Amino acid sequence: MDLAAYLEKTQEIVDKTLMREYGDAYGDLYKASSHLLLAGGKRLRPAVLLLSADAVKKGRSDELLPAALALELIHTFTLIHDDIMDSDRERRGVPTVHTLWGEPTAILAGDVLYAHAFEYLCHALADDRSRVKAVTILARACAEICEGQQMDMSFEGRDDVTTGEYLEMVQKKTGALYAASAGIGALLAGGTMVQTDALFQYGLRSGIAFQIQDDLIDIISDTEKSGKDRGSDIRRGKQTLITIKAAEAGLDLAPYRRDLTSEELDAVVQQLQDLRIIDEVRAVAVEHADAAKKALSLIPPSAERDMLTAIVDFFIARGS
Ligand code: IPE
Ligand code: IPE
Ligand code: MG
Ligand code: MG
Ligand code: MG
Repeated sequence: MDLAAYLEKTQEIVDKTLMREYGDAYGDLYKASSHLLLAGGKRLRPAVLLLSADAVKKGRSDELLPAALALELIHTFTLIHDDIMDSDRERRGVPTVHTLWGEPTAILAGDVLYAHAFEYLCHALADDRSRVKAVTILARACAEICEGQQMDMSFEGRDDVTTGEYLEMVQKKTGALYAASAGIGALLAGGTMVQTDALFQYGLRSGIAFQIQDDLIDIISDTEKSGKDRGSDIRRGKQTLITIKAAEAGLDLAPYRRDLTSEELDAVVQQLQDLRIIDEVRAVAVEHADAAKKALSLIPPSAERDMLTAIVDFFIARGS
């Protein structure tokens, strides 16, 4: 099976299961919790978890679907809260949860998914020791995401953020959850400590590459394609590799801290292209993607390992 077919199949299974579990939500809180969950999404963290499981013990993924769902629930919880922090209106092609239900209910809606995630994780079929370790890994990842998100907000409006600070921030806000996805998949499947660590590192580095591409998508892809507010990062004064490298090249993006039309955004992209900044940023994503692939050398060759390699290439090529 090629990667596209695999991702489609995983997406179908995840969507179907979530529909069964959350499809008949009633009351504001549960409607708000299920809104974004059922609005689609690429379901990449479940895919990484299941592939990592099969890469260390073929066939184990069949019993680990609850763990894969747990990762998607955590991810969706972070998206609901992230949209409040970033004042965004659209996500997965639908209005954001706080836009429809208000911020207090959106906070609780995220919290419900956060709690459910740990319940699901405990339902995965694996020995108790591994499950306790998996809970620990996921809990740690959640705290790291909070640290990363706090850094992300504290960078808004600063003009002296370094590449090192940026990389630390994205490793925490995005790398940590991909690391947990791959690491937990390997651990619950019965992988060795070396394999689990290798897959954890793979997730961490591929997650950094994923976020660098997300930052590019923010400015390049239109809302129709990404399902998210285009130009949100520039509007908020977010510090990304794009703004850091632009500043180094003498281009200050601070004057664009306001609502921008798509024509204005196209003009910014043109300036960034003229200065070769987009290429430079892409090159950094490739570096981290390569490091992620290298970590896979400790995993025996298999179709699943090949797909884990291919998924990293997809992370840095995608437009949504
Ligand atoms: C968006 O993640 C949030 C980031 C970490 C950049 P995805 O791009 O995986 O979002 P969905 O799940 O497909 O909507
Ligand atoms: C958020 O990064 C990552 C999370 C931990 C949710 P962004 O704020 O760039 O994610 P998007 O672009 O809104 O999906
Ligand atoms: Mg955001
Ligand atoms: Mg954000
Ligand atoms: Mg983004």
